[in-house]
This record gives sequence, C-alpha cells and structure tokens, in this order.
Amino acid sequence: MSDSTDRLWDGRFTEATDAFVEAFTASVSFDQVLAIFDIEGSIAHATMLGRCSIIPADTAKAIIEGLEGIREDIKAGNFTWSEQLEDVHMNIEAELTHRIGEQGKALHTGRSRNDQVATDVRMYLRFHIDQILDQIRHLQQGLINLASQHTHTIMPGFTHLQVAQPVVFGHHLMAWYEMLCRDEARLQDCRRRVNILPLGAAALAGTSFPIDRNLVADLLGFDDIADNSLDAVSDRDFAIEFSAAASLLMMHLSRWSEELILWASPQFDFIALPDRFCTGSSIMPQKKNPDVPELVRGKAARVFGGLMTLLTLMKGQPLAYNKDNQEDKEPLIDTIRTVENTLTAFGDMIPNIEAKPQAMRLAAAKGFATATDLADYLVRQGMPFRDAHHIVGRLVGLAESRNLDLSELKLSDFHQESDQIKEDVYQILTLEGSVAARAHPGGTAPKAVQAAIERAQKRFR
Ligand code: ARG
Repeated sequence: MSDSTDRLWDGRFTEATDAFVEAFTASVSFDQVLAIFDIEGSIAHATMLGRCSIIPADTAKAIIEGLEGIREDIKAGNFTWSEQLEDVHMNIEAELTHRIGEQGKALHTGRSRNDQVATDVRMYLRFHIDQILDQIRHLQQGLINLASQHTHTIMPGFTHLQVAQPVVFGHHLMAWYEMLCRDEARLQDCRRRVNILPLGAAALAGTSFPIDRNLVADLLGFDDIADNSLDAVSDRDFAIEFSAAASLLMMHLSRWSEELILWASPQFDFIALPDRFCTGSSIMPQKKNPDVPELVRGKAARVFGGLMTLLTLMKGQPLAYNKDNQEDKEPLIDTIRTVENTLTAFGDMIPNIEAKPQAMRLAAAKGFATATDLADYLVRQGMPFRDAHHIVGRLVGLAESRNLDLSELKLSDFHQESDQIKEDVYQILTLEGSVAARAHPGGTAPKAVQAAIERAQKRFR
C-alpha cells in the first residue's frame, strides 16, 4: 500500500488504495510515451493561466521552467516513473511540485486529467501521423523510381491468380502507388479532425476560471478548439478513425506482401528480394525465406485488432469521460509502432527489389495472355464480341491440345474457326502489341505508364 499522502486526489479517502488495485489501474508503464506532449500541453496551459492572470506571473514562470527541466531529464532518460503515481500526468505534476515547491500545485487550475489526456493523445497522434505521412511519401518515391525502370518490362497480369492479360511491371508498381495515395489522403483528412483542442473542457463541464482556449490552441498548433466540453473529454473517434486509416494502409501493404511472397517463390521467380530482408532455414540449406513481407502480412492482423479494440471500447460509454478510455492507449501505441516499422522496412526493401524480366515474360507468353486481343481483332473485323469470344475460346483449346501458344498456330489453323483472320493477326498476338494497344489514360501501354509516372513525379518536385 502506498502512503496516502503521495496521492494528488486522495483528500476524501480514508484508506489507502489496495496495492493490486493500484497496479491494476496504473497506466504509467505505457502512457509515458505521452510525456513530451503532456509537458508541452502543460507549458501552454501555464502560459495561458499566467497571461489571463488566473495564476501569478512568477508562478507561471516557475512552473514553465520546472517543466522544461523535467523535459530535459525525461529526454535524457533520467526520470524515474512511479506506478504509485498512476499515470504520466500525475508523475510529471508530482515531480514538478517536488522540484519547485508549492507553486507547482497551481498548474492544474482550470484543468482536469480528462481534458489533459485527450489533448496529449491528440498531440501524440498528430506527431505520428506526420511521421507516417513522410514515410508514405518516401515509399511512393521508391515505387515511382522502380516503376520508371520498368515501363517496358512485360509480365502477366492476373485475375483469379490465373494469367489474364499482359501488363508492364511498371504499371503493377504504379497500382501500388495509387493505393498509397488514398492512404495518404485518408490520413491527411483524419489529421484535420485530430487537430482540435479539448483543453478547457476540464473534467466535463468546462471551468469557472476565465481561460483563453484559443491562446492555448495557438500555442500548441491546434487548428481549432473543441466546441462541446462533454464531447471533448470523452470521444476517441479520432483515434478510431486513425486506426481505420492505418488498417487500410496495412491491408494494402499486406496485399503487396502476398504478391512479393508469390513472386519470390521459385515457381514464379519474378523477383529477388534483397538478402538482408530474408532469412535462411535452420534445416533446409537451400531456403531463402521472405520473412519481412510475411511478417508484414501477419502484422496487418494486429492493426485490425487494434481497430476492433477501440471500436468496442467506445461503443458502450455514456458521456462524458470514463476510465475505460485509458484502454485506448495500448492499441494506439502498438498500431503506430507497427505501421512505422512496416513502412521503414518497405521504404528500404521496395526500391531494392530485383526484377527478373525474362521469367516474367516467359510466364506472360505461356498463359494465352493475348486471347482477348484476338477477340478484339475479330470485333474490329465486324464480328459481335460474344461470337469472337467463343471462337477464340475454341482456338485456345486447339493451341492447348498441341501444346502451342496462340502466336504459334498457323493461318490455316485460324481459318478452321474464322476466315476473317489474316496475316496481320500475328502482330496483335505479340505481348508488345497487346500492351501497346492499351494506350488510354490508366492503361498498361508503356506510353500511358510513362505518363502516369510523370504525373506522380511532379508531386515530388
Ligand atoms: N490515465 C487516465 C487516462 O488515460 C487519465 C485520465 C484520468 N481521469 C480520471 N478522471 N481518472 O484516461
């Protein structure tokens, strides 16, 4: 049991907290990641209290200097966190009073831990959204560079994981780039709702002191103040929204991972991953396992789990603050760490993928990937598409039975099905002809892909 005089809130209590309950309710082991933001928020609050003459100017000054000293010590790793003091906020406040004496006790005027923690979490999240956005942009640039080297590298495009039509590798990479653009936009949009100041809501109803919330918002870089005190201290929808955007991002990176794993297998052999992103097997000497993409595919699961945790955490809470909300931190912290680590790995790995154009080409040539081009050819000769589709299906069957590609059939073979097929058909049956024909915006023709790459490059100039 702790000595009840340690407590910042125990005036009305007649017995000390049970030791187990103390440990059970404490959050300092994980919410200390908020420390820097907590101090920044407190400095702004004290500045405002001083300027509004709610506390004496010299008290505000002493508080600010005390907090700055604590910040230095925390950054240097010279701060001892105490579980008895429950959370990051009370650890810092108690240390402040320990350092500067009675004046420290004025800091919490007109404020509650409820608006304090909501402010800290928003500042923490804002900081990490900005980091993640930088990492996304770095990864986008890596993709664009790689894509620009592969505007003519032909590979099979798949549907149902069956060879469908030829595409160029650069086009596939730019599809990944597009996914990231939407992830980026979602995070930017979410940031706007994160960046609203709760402080001033106090416990739930606001405060009787003549505070200046807009001043605090300015000092802390918030775009606006929260309009309703009850809502400000209670809702964690901004964290849920971030987790949803993070889940979508991880879902995308997991899909890429799945493709990288397939492509790096000897059966596909489309790419080689840099050795430093793979590991060997302790028993099978020939193995080079794509651990990093596999782990990313796995880590998507825990980010989705964090989203579910936060949604479930929020759904039963009446207004305003409830202690349930302390549970928002671990999933949020874990999600941020997972997303940042994943982007660090991908930011380095993706630009260093080694493509294997020969194997890609061979796979595209094997799978009747130009069958649609043949059907389109017949349509251009005036045949309805459905009939063309049927005829080409029969020709594919013929080629398959002889173990040939469509381009290896003789003109006489084609004439078994349609005499509208002429010598010029062989041009459209080539892989190059097939991709070049899709030259509209969004298509896979090298020209169209080059244009997409140039549009993307402009964003980074
Ligand atoms: N550690 C708490 C949290 O994370 C801080 C707010 C506590 N407020 C309270 N009234 N007990 O939510």
